[in-house]
Amino acid sequence: MPKLVINGAKKLRGEIRIHGAKNSTLPLMAASLVCGGECVLHNCPSLSDVDTSIRILRYLGCSVTSSEGSVAIDPASADHFDIPDHLMREMRSSIIFLGAIVSRMGRAVLSFPGGCELGPRPIDLHLSALRKMGVVIDEDHGCLNCSVPNGLKGAVISLSFPSVGATENILIAAVLAKGTTVVNNAAREPEICDLADFLNSCGAKIRGAGESTIVVEGVKSLTGCEHDVIPDRIAAATYLAAAAATGSVLTVKNVVPRHLEPIIPVLEESGCRLEMDGDRIRISAPPRLKRIKNVRTMPYPGFPTDAQAPVMAMASVAEGTSVFVENIFESRYKHVGELLRLGANIKVEGRVAIVEGVDHLSGAAVEATDLRGGAALVIAGLAAQGRTQITGLHHLDRGYEKIESNLARLGADIVRI
Ligand code: EPZ
Repeated sequence: MPKLVINGAKKLRGEIRIHGAKNSTLPLMAASLVCGGECVLHNCPSLSDVDTSIRILRYLGCSVTSSEGSVAIDPASADHFDIPDHLMREMRSSIIFLGAIVSRMGRAVLSFPGGCELGPRPIDLHLSALRKMGVVIDEDHGCLNCSVPNGLKGAVISLSFPSVGATENILIAAVLAKGTTVVNNAAREPEICDLADFLNSCGAKIRGAGESTIVVEGVKSLTGCEHDVIPDRIAAATYLAAAAATGSVLTVKNVVPRHLEPIIPVLEESGCRLEMDGDRIRISAPPRLKRIKNVRTMPYPGFPTDAQAPVMAMASVAEGTSVFVENIFESRYKHVGELLRLGANIKVEGRVAIVEGVDHLSGAAVEATDLRGGAALVIAGLAAQGRTQITGLHHLDRGYEKIESNLARLGADIVRI
């Protein structure tokens, strides 16, 4: 099985261009189904999750071509309303296609998305919102059988939790619904704004994206459009954490500094100096990081749960005790066991992880447990003395474009074999 081999304790240097956001590309590709013409998405990352979404769109009958980071989708020939089980299982977030398929086809048959490495991934908020908009959903034998006998209609929806996916499903279902939809306690992530910008470029009427209340006035039809996907703030955070953990000076470019505001103070608290310059952030790390008193993951604009594992890897070699509280997912500490094998000193009590910084980590053979946990192992391997081998690369390839060649170009001693 393929693995990454890292000879650690080497500094990084230079500049890296951050790829387009995975968590924006996926909902944008689903949303193209409700458009009335061809959509071209630029700055799409080449990731396995994007490939899976392309396979889902092609299965649904859309014509999809991709080249050099641009994906062109023409939904005109869509003639299916189901997603086969194996594709549902391949990508947890394929639930994001539900609103789009129902809106375009009037029906949808999806298997219940299984759990994933982060624990059960309930979709109750998605289903209750779509039911309010007129979708009849029968759940039996692990299958969601959806229809809209009277068409989609606008509704007032108050989310008990600002779910990113549920907010996206609602927006996509609402743009062609009859009447107005109001989403209260909507997710405020930058990816929500990107989706709203894309749909508004196609003629939708969405106001308030990025705030807790979003209003959508249904329109008769949408056109296609061309759209640049926003940069991946989590990939940026990951490379910044790698620079911090290895005492490096590094520039990440093609970022939106505002999207990283929840993370910058944490990096500064650890002793790193950050300079923003347009779409660039330059980080200079100290020889030894200071502990981070308290990292609590929260919905945006709070500290992002996806950056928890990469920042924990960095904190594991800081001086002093750092405390993490994971408030979003119920089991997002699977990477701790593997970090311990590298010599980290971490105790997990429920949602709290106590990280006692150690002088240095030591290379070992470890296995990625999930996407961001895998990123944490790469960061730890880069900082560790000696040789680290990382398996489970399919997790990493879901969310990081060419991670080993990017890091090698920055001076890391890393190969994929
Ligand atoms: C999106 O997942 C991201 N994925 C996740 O990134 C990210 O961690 C998450 O948002 C939070 O920011 C994509 O955008 C493809 P949620 P999503 O709905 O939409 C609970 C990565 O590493 N919940 O905001 O699934 C849920 O169990 C991935 O790139 C319900 O209870 O996140 C979780 O505890 C991992 N019922 C919490 O809300 C529901 O109906 C946050 O989920 C939906 C969610």
